[in-house]
Amino acid sequence: MRKFISFLLPIAIVAVISFQSCGEDNTMNNNTPSAQTLYTRLGGNTAIDTVVAVFINNVAADPQINFFFAPVLADTSGVRYRLLRQNLVQQICMVTGGPCLYMGKDMRTAHGGMSITIAQFNALVNDLVMAMTTLGVAQTEQNELLAILGPLCGDIVDNGNGTGCQ
Ligand code: HEM
Repeated sequence: MRKFISFLLPIAIVAVISFQSCGEDNTMNNNTPSAQTLYTRLGGNTAIDTVVAVFINNVAADPQINFFFAPVLADTSGVRYRLLRQNLVQQICMVTGGPCLYMGKDMRTAHGGMSITIAQFNALVNDLVMAMTTLGVAQTEQNELLAILGPLCGDIVDNGNGTGCQ
């Protein structure tokens, strides 16, 4: 029995190490770009967090929509900023196939009662596009992310009659 365990133990250790080295996604053994998740192609959590940081800066400087975020920007402790940033990163990570669980509110609850218009929605999307372009995110990945986020429009824009989002 001892011999059997001492034979199995090294194999088990190697298996655990190899499993962990899969890293942040599930693309092990498949290095063709098209087979990688959008999360991986965006550069994982660190790169997504950088996009979100630049995106929030763009929103904060955008007079079309920055007033919505006044309470976040006015919180000098930075707690609300960090929470928003973390929620956005988690959400993008999750919807692009990354190993995250978005813990924030659903989009309808988060944006309810804000009377967000389609023009304001488009302004925010444009701030995201500017952030991705500034950071050199390729067009394919930009388009894929927008194709995932675009359909959330119906839960965010409040135009009173359910129309406006394509
Ligand atoms: C695809 C578009 C959008 C996405 C993916 C998105 C995502 C999010 C997320 C994840 C949160 C955090 C929810 C939570 O606190 O649990 C949030 C909050 C918020 N969003 Fe959006 N949002 C979008 C569009 C917009 C637009 C167009 C506006 C306004 C023009 C807006 C204004 C806000 C505001 C004011 C908050 C609350 C911030 C706070 O008080 O912490 N969002 N959004």
